[in-house]
Amino acid sequence: MNFENILVEKNKGVAIITINRPKKLNALNRDTIQELHNAFNDLNNDDLVKIILVIGNGDKAFVAGADITEFANFSAEKGEMLARKGQEILFNFIENLTTPVIALINGFALGGGLELAMACHFRIASDNAKMGLPEVSLGLIPGYGGTQRLAQLVGKGKAMELIMTAGMITAQEAKENQLVNHVVPQEELRSFAEKITEKIMRNSPIAIGKAIKAVNANFKEGVNGYEVEITEFGNCFNTYDFQEGTKAFLEKRKANFKGK
Ligand code: COA
Repeated sequence: MNFENILVEKNKGVAIITINRPKKLNALNRDTIQELHNAFNDLNNDDLVKIILVIGNGDKAFVAGADITEFANFSAEKGEMLARKGQEILFNFIENLTTPVIALINGFALGGGLELAMACHFRIASDNAKMGLPEVSLGLIPGYGGTQRLAQLVGKGKAMELIMTAGMITAQEAKENQLVNHVVPQEELRSFAEKITEKIMRNSPIAIGKAIKAVNANFKEGVNGYEVEITEFGNCFNTYDFQEGTKAFLEKRKANFKGK
């Protein structure tokens, strides 16, 4: 995989995608969004990859938003297309991956940057991180799922306030509002994430993928999450990992999952 705007490393089941435009605070331009799509797609189809971490290069920003220079002259039609395509190929795409994706928010996560972090399955922030959806300060609204996912994570009232004020909150405030799960010193962000990835990787990848699908079902219009859960629960019984997991428990040994 050759990319210009991102770096991808793989090590013992963990893939790390680093958004690599530090001079532009890792702002998401069109090429970066396409490269991220390609990388996520490849990694999700790689059986050796059990978990994907996303971080921004440098110590200042995760991602400072969509690249404002690219849409400054857009018409309504082009604006709608930008949001639709972005949601489809990146933000909704990540949310629906069966490989767990964790955002490591290592600095500013603003606009499209916070939307990217919110599309991930959960988030860990460094203590210097600042988060917000400042689009109304540009005469816009969030277009990459921010109005929906922020309200899902922090509740409607807090989401309304954050969006209307275009303000930024600290990592600690983000944790108090359930936007991030953990806050750690910046130099410990990767090592802390490693501890969580180790725990996740002990478990069945195929069961984790089905759990992601069932949890997401709660937030999909017209989908009955309980029904999705019942179906996916049943599907687990057809897997090697279920046979292995239960056998290992009864034999009092560690399971050797294959993700099948
Ligand atoms: N799109 C395009 N370029 C961006 C960007 C974005 N979303 N965010 C930052 N940059 C660029 C800046 O233009 C600057 O480029 P330059 O050096 O060529 O002038 C560079 O990144 C560094 O940013 P700068 O503003 O100088 O850093 P700062 O420390 O003074 O401020 C921020 C940091 C994050 C507060 C500020 O960059 C900012 O407000 N960015 C936009 C955030 C936003 O509105 N995002 C939502 C977009 S929809």
